[in-house]
Order: sequence, then structure tokens, then C-alpha cells
Amino acid sequence: MKKIIVFSGAGISAESGLGTFRDKGGLWDQYDINEVATPEAWEKNPELVLDFYNQRREIAIKAEPNAAHKSLVDLEEHFDVHIVTQNIDDLHERAGSTQILHLHGEILKAECTVNKSEVVELSDPKMKMGDLSTGGHQLRPHVVWFGEAVPMMLEAERIVSEADIFVVVGTSLNVYPAANLLYACKKTCQKYIVDLNELSNVKYKNLKLYKGKATEQVPNLVKELIEKNE
Ligand code: APR
Repeated sequence: MKKIIVFSGAGISAESGLGTFRDKGGLWDQYDINEVATPEAWEKNPELVLDFYNQRREIAIKAEPNAAHKSLVDLEEHFDVHIVTQNIDDLHERAGSTQILHLHGEILKAECTVNKSEVVELSDPKMKMGDLSTGGHQLRPHVVWFGEAVPMMLEAERIVSEADIFVVVGTSLNVYPAANLLYACKKTCQKYIVDLNELSNVKYKNLKLYKGKATEQVPNLVKELIEKNE
């Protein structure tokens, strides 16, 4: 079975009502990254950081997977599909995808501030100071902040290096090291990008652009891939 890797970003969840980061009016227009998404922010004002993720968590829980998430599940009858996502929502899981790697963490989980390998599912979606790990240390969102290592990066590169088909959906490819995955494919890998816009930072050689909304263009691409594979 051919291996398809889907590398997704905030744009795939935009039509589910979850804000992107760098579009006009996006999260980084509304919040200062340095106040809510860095280790220094956590040291300075952990309540503000917890509040930022509590708000995003509330929206993520209410959101539903859209046609783009769902059409990726259809691929699984025909291909060995791995989702490598920068998103911290669980919309790929709730759509039914079965092999998912979260590069930047998961908003429904928390991690121990001392022993980062201790990761717990959140029972209460509202995190607060005083929520402690089994070791008695404060819990923090299980999210990779700017300036932090991306623990799943090597595994993501290994998966992408085996891809026969690589599909990028809804990411501006602005954040590293995640964006390097575009260059982790083998020479023979067919590459596709689904995005509202033509990305200025991408050379579209041997890369087919499906320009438009993810809920329209991902199902189109999925249909084409399945027909070509028959
Ligand atoms: N359909 C398709 N593409 C869309 C849609 C849509 N409905 N809406 C937006 N897009 C595209 C935008 O054109 C843009 O290229 O999705 C991309 C969103 O880019 P960003 O907002 O930069 O989000 P992302 O690339 O996921 O950010 C990467 O940055 O802040 C960090 O950790 C955070 O994981 C995030 C990382």
C-alpha cells in the first residue's frame, strides 16, 4: 500500500471555527506570542498563559471536524495514511483518522512542569494554578511553546521520508523546524499543497497547488488520489 503523509496546519481547522495564527485577525494579531506562548511568559504570568489556552480549549471542544478532516479518513481505505499535524486540536481524531502525530502538542492534555514526560488527559477543561502532577508539581498545557524543542520532530521526519505522496494542508510553512518537513520527502515523492493562497515562501516546482478552501479542495484532491491509485 502506498504511504500518504498529510502535513496539516491551522488552515484545515479554520472552517471548523478555529482561528488561524497569521491570517488577518488571526491569533497572533489578537495576542502577543511573548505573553502567552513562550516559557518566559509562563514564568512571568502563568495565569495569563493558562487563561489563553483555556479559551482556545473551550472553542476547540465545541468545534466539529469539517469535510477536509473527514475526507482524509476516506483515504485510509486505499493508502497507509499518516497525519502529521501542527494543530493542537483533536479534530483529526474526532474525524476518524487513525495514525496522527501532533508536532506541537495537544490542547486536551497537560504535562508536568518538572517531569515533561508525564502527560495527562485533562479531566477539567479549565486549567488553573494548583492543578498538580502525580509528583506534586504544577501542570502546564501540553503544547510546544516558541523556543522549546519539538520532541516529535525526528519521528515526523522519519515518517515523511517514507512517503510516496506528501500533502500539505492549511499551513503557512512559516514555523521551523516543522516547515522543514517539506524537504524531508524522497525525490520520487508526489507533493501537493492545499491552501487558500499561493504561499510566497514556496517554490512550486514538482508541487501541485490546490488553491481554495480546505473543505472543497481536500475532498477534490482525495478523489483524484483515489482514482489515480485504482
Ligand atoms: N482553507 C485552506 N487554507 C486556509 C484556510 C482555509 N479555509 N484558512 C486559512 N488557510 C491557510 C492560510 O492561507 C495559511 O497559509 O492556512 C494557513 C495558516 O497559516 P498559519 O496561521 O501560520 O498557521 P500554521 O501554519 O498552522 O502555524 C504553524 O505556528 O504559531 C505556531 O504553533 C503554532 O502550529 C502553529 C504554527
